[in-house]
Amino acid sequence: MSAMEWSESLELGLEPMDETHKEFVDCLNEMAGADAQHFLVAFDRFIEHTEAHFEQENRWMAAVGFPGCHKAEHDRVLTVIHDVRKRVEQGDAFLGKRLVEELPGWFENHAGGMDAALAHYLDAVGFDFETGKINDPNASNESACAC
Ligand SMILES: [Fe+2]
Ligand SMILES: [Fe+2]
Repeated sequence: MSAMEWSESLELGLEPMDETHKEFVDCLNEMAGADAQHFLVAFDRFIEHTEAHFEQENRWMAAVGFPGCHKAEHDRVLTVIHDVRKRVEQGDAFLGKRLVEELPGWFENHAGGMDAALAHYLDAVGFDFETGKINDPNASNESACAC
């Protein structure tokens, strides 16, 4: 059973971000397909990946001075995920399943909103993912989300 399928509608055209998002979908599907015995192992893999995913975007945002609301959303989601992880470990398997059901809708919304705005901005300023440098520092910040 999978929680969600990767589709072109999730693609933002920024390779490093799209690659990470594909892995996010894979990790989520691993959780969805895990039996009770392996759920926490899949959950931990998902958490590890999601922390790296969010940290990567947070670093890009810090490098280009992107507004903090996107990072705050990452922090909120990680708090919920860690809380659910604790409760699953204490025996509340249902809550883990509910999280798996909720995450696809959240991800579609987040990728299509905050991540899309960040991808557009990184592209507009000519952000170099190798060096972390901005090639066009005078580009406008119009695409940044309003916090
Ligand atoms: Fe993302
Ligand atoms: Fe994000």
